[in-house]
Amino acid sequence: MWTSLGTVTESAGRRAGSCRFWAVVLGAAAGVFLLGFLIGWFAKPTEKTSVSPREDMKAAFMAEMKAENIKQFLYNFTQLPHLAGTKENLNLAQQVQAEWKEFGLDSVQLVHYDVLLSYPDDTKPNYISIIDEHGNEIFNTSLSEPPPPGYEAVRDVVPPYSAFSAQGIPEGELVYVNYGRIEDFFKLEREMKINCTGKIVIARYGKIFRGNKVKNAEQAGAKGVILYSDPADYCAPGVDPYPNGWNLPGGGAQRGNVLNLNGAGDPLTPGYPAKEYTYRLDKASGVGLPKIPVHPIGYHDAESLLRNMGGYGPPHSSWKGNLNVSYNVGPGFTANYSTRKVKMHIHSHNEVRRIYNVIGTIRGEVEPDRYVILGGHRDSWVFGGIDPQSGAAVVHEIVRSFGKLKKKGWRPRRTVIFASWDAEEFGLLGSTEWAEENAKVLQARAVAYINADSSIEGNYTLRVDCTPLMYRLVYSLTKEIPSPDEGFEGKSLYESWYKKNPSREYKEVPRINKLGSGNDFEVFFQRLGIASGRARYSKNSNVEKYSSYPVYHSVYETYEIVEKFYDPTFKNHLTVAQVRGGLVFELANSIVLPFDCRDYASAVSNYAHIIYNLSRNHEEELATYNVSFDALFSAVKNFSEVAASFHERLQQIDINNQLAVRSLNDQLMFLERAFIDPLGLPGRPFYRHVVFAPSSHNKYAGESFPGIYDAMFDIKNKADQHEAWDEVRRQISIAAFTVQAAAETLKEVA
Ligand SMILES: *[C@@H]1O[C@H](CO)[C@@H](O)[C@H](O)[C@H]1NC(C)=O
Ligand SMILES: *[C@@H]1O[C@H](CO)[C@@H](O)[C@H](O)[C@H]1NC(C)=O
Ligand SMILES: *[C@@H]1O[C@H](CO)[C@@H](O)[C@H](O)[C@H]1NC(C)=O
Ligand SMILES: *[C@@H]1O[C@H](CO)[C@@H](O)[C@H](O)[C@H]1NC(C)=O
Ligand SMILES: *[C@@H]1O[C@H](CO)[C@@H](O)[C@H](O)[C@H]1NC(C)=O
Ligand SMILES: *[C@@H]1O[C@H](CO)[C@@H](O)[C@H](O)[C@H]1NC(C)=O
Ligand SMILES: *[C@@H]1O[C@H](CO)[C@@H](O)[C@H](O)[C@H]1NC(C)=O
Ligand SMILES: *[C@@H]1O[C@H](CO)[C@@H](O)[C@H](O)[C@H]1NC(C)=O
Ligand SMILES: *[C@@H]1O[C@H](CO)[C@@H](O)[C@H](O)[C@H]1NC(C)=O
Ligand SMILES: [Zn+2]
Repeated sequence: MWTSLGTVTESAGRRAGSCRFWAVVLGAAAGVFLLGFLIGWFAKPTEKTSVSPREDMKAAFMAEMKAENIKQFLYNFTQLPHLAGTKENLNLAQQVQAEWKEFGLDSVQLVHYDVLLSYPDDTKPNYISIIDEHGNEIFNTSLSEPPPPGYEAVRDVVPPYSAFSAQGIPEGELVYVNYGRIEDFFKLEREMKINCTGKIVIARYGKIFRGNKVKNAEQAGAKGVILYSDPADYCAPGVDPYPNGWNLPGGGAQRGNVLNLNGAGDPLTPGYPAKEYTYRLDKASGVGLPKIPVHPIGYHDAESLLRNMGGYGPPHSSWKGNLNVSYNVGPGFTANYSTRKVKMHIHSHNEVRRIYNVIGTIRGEVEPDRYVILGGHRDSWVFGGIDPQSGAAVVHEIVRSFGKLKKKGWRPRRTVIFASWDAEEFGLLGSTEWAEENAKVLQARAVAYINADSSIEGNYTLRVDCTPLMYRLVYSLTKEIPSPDEGFEGKSLYESWYKKNPSREYKEVPRINKLGSGNDFEVFFQRLGIASGRARYSKNSNVEKYSSYPVYHSVYETYEIVEKFYDPTFKNHLTVAQVRGGLVFELANSIVLPFDCRDYASAVSNYAHIIYNLSRNHEEELATYNVSFDALFSAVKNFSEVAASFHERLQQIDINNQLAVRSLNDQLMFLERAFIDPLGLPGRPFYRHVVFAPSSHNKYAGESFPGIYDAMFDIKNKADQHEAWDEVRRQISIAAFTVQAAAETLKEVA
């Protein structure tokens, strides 16, 4: 039995998560048993001279995961489309459930919700046409993407569409709005005096979440939105279109939802789980639904629409993409074609359907009432070669490896929950509904959430977004994992990551980003205040300017694109499995939680300086309206001091005093929770974290001190300056209060 492996004497003061030297008494039988596992693991660079049983299990766990298995799982998960709300995705849920049971989890349940989804009409296809003065449709966009070789016979490939688009057949003049960002509309409306009211706007994909583009267009008065992928953003130079390379072909288009849910989950049941008995809003008044038709097209069709645009020229060279067109902004076509218009035909409908999460658990040995969650989605737009199955295959291998250890009699210290979420692509619905149903328990018991969508979006280096609490854990873990990169043989992942992407703010560490949203960690972090993190292999964002990855959400996201171009040996997948799995392992097994509150203090201090610096563009108003950041800086200083002394106490802790350990761990666990304001951010009640939120202008990006940031955004153009600056003062006071309140939770208990 692993549990009787002799005694651990852990020297007080060493951080459990990053400990290097463990005093050990290893049972002889265990030593023999472990040898096989350990050979592979210790063949890698490591300074360890002796190991504790817990470290042995970690080594065994890390060595258990195999690239070849991930490859097989990816192949298995990508042979059919797995659109949320379809039979195929229920079948896959049942398969995952059966396999997780076989792997040895204690329990594996399917948990369903009935949520609002959106599908094209089977008989009336969506398309866009150019019409002449008689209304004849003289050009039509394509109804589907040419299938990738080998997949011609697959049925039920949903054609490109914008999920939750309004229905309608608007016609009008086109206006090209670049990326459809706030700043693009400011340029059009304020500088060029172009009025988008009653126009159909065409925006290129990239830079920001598509739902934000649609919201901006709607606010500008547009009656329809066309989204397209420009080669400038979806083709890497010198790379062929799929299948000969990994670029987006001209007939490919990006599917995706165009909601502005702001964390609500199912549009009809905001705040509550979408169960059978749950009260539903009527479909017309669902949260975040766009009011105008929206449709995505590829760059071949976009070239035809943009070809003869007239009106104003592009205001700046940055508005030009890589198509052979003028990038005139319009409105409308050149004089020769001035009678032509554009007409959209959108017949998609919203419909309540059942979705299924798979929830598997391994009960914790010592602290079963403390949960570490690993979750990633299972639903895909089509084959999901990258999104999400490159992530789901990794989760599968992590679950298999935990199960393998458990079958040998081992259990983690804390309970580990594995989740295969449904309907992520429709607005993070599966994860949000589950967290809504279990909110009370999660608030009380969840230690951390690790997200696991796509494992790869490039093959250059690691990318991590996480709470400051996890910085050190991520750094220490990546120092133990071998780098998969060429030229870094015998070096650690940390070394290649640091070399390729050093931090801007903090010297001598690799870059870690703020959490934004656009993925399933949202409800856990932004609503519930559960420490969260995510990791994947990524491109070189300093050089490669294309957005996400070229075939994102197209039919060309196949198993083959991964196997041929992204990760032929699956070594990057294995690295991501070791990072995600290693994080879960450490969070679930470290005696003292591997969180460092001092890093939260530095981060909050940095963000306070950033937001203060931003305010200094308004020196005069700060004086006039008596706006001061003193309270915020005072709270930040207090937080830093309290965090430092908390850390001191942690060093002194007697690891054998279980009550003392549990008490300090609870302070660490609840620190993230302390940044939650129950009232939420202005107009966004489900974004409740005061330090971080998804940017109001780009759901994908994280914003720090979002309340203050939003209150100051474009403030000089607000009509009532007194009212506007009053709101800034209110937000500063909320931030100061919350940081101080968080500091109070770390103080020594009197
Ligand atoms: C995937 O694996 C499962 C379990 O081994 C098997 O039943 C199923 O047929 C496989 N599916 C494909 C498409 O290979
Ligand atoms: C476009 O589609 C409409 C409706 O199917 C059809 O009447 C029209 O002829 C098509 N136009 C072209 C150029 O194919
Ligand atoms: C834009 O046009 C609409 C209707 O044509 C009008 O109501 C609105 O005031 C105009 N907006 C601006 C800023 O001129
Ligand atoms: C660009 O389009 C024009 C017609 O608008 C055509 O004459 C020219 O050959 C095209 N250039 C390329 C490189 O395709
Ligand atoms: C526009 O029409 C005029 C007159 O019919 C013609 O000379 C010119 O070449 C046309 N321009 C384009 C871009 O087709
Ligand atoms: C993989 O890495 C190679 C070498 O850096 C690079 O040329 C290639 O573009 C990368 N492939 C992808 C799909 O990013
Ligand atoms: C804030 O501005 C000061 C003065 O310009 C600068 O030294 C400092 O680095 C800035 N801090 C941040 C966090 O941007
Ligand atoms: C400005 O604010 C400070 C506190 O931040 C307060 O003590 C002072 O009275 C205020 N002054 C005015 C003119 O409102
Ligand atoms: C910071 O701590 C000091 C000393 O305890 C206290 O006076 C001050 O009010 C605190 N700051 C805030 C914003 O609460
Ligand atoms: Zn995804």
